Amino acid sequence: MGLLEINKFPDKILKQKTLPVKNLDSLTQHLIDNMIETMHFARGLGLAANQVGATKRLCVIDLSVKEDKGPLIVLVNPVIVEKEGMIDAEEGCLSIPGYMTSIKRPEKVFIKGISREGKDIELEGTGLLARVLQHEIDHLDGLLFIDRMSPIRREFFKRRYRKLLKEAKEEK
Ligand code: NI
Repeated sequence: MGLLEINKFPDKILKQKTLPVKNLDSLTQHLIDNMIETMHFARGLGLAANQVGATKRLCVIDLSVKEDKGPLIVLVNPVIVEKEGMIDAEEGCLSIPGYMTSIKRPEKVFIKGISREGKDIELEGTGLLARVLQHEIDHLDGLLFIDRMSPIRREFFKRRYRKLLKEAKEEK
């Protein structure tokens, strides 16, 4: 077990589409354990493999930071097979620390993937779970939530983020 470093925007690996996992070997199991530990340590709701430098299509989710009923979810090769509705909600990301904004996404999603044991998983998500599932699957496709904003709002974000980075540097 060990904590992994979380890549931050604008690291190029966050823009890369991950590759399907073909082998649930000990190396992959070890990566999953480390991702869970890293997500819990960072108090995130989810973490995708490319955020910690592995271009594998897998992510971990745990809503218990916000909702105490959330189980730990490990999703290998997840895909969204159905979406329903549309809703605006606040979103943040461990790779874009200190920034939150409202993003419009489908309200309900239906996911297929496999578990870390290789069993088929079918999952229906609404509310916060739907949001986190889409956010993590976006990561696996090389997309960040800022890519879901309008070009004008994204420009504002970039300016603000550069300022945040500068301030963080000055504090050190
Ligand atoms: Ni994220």
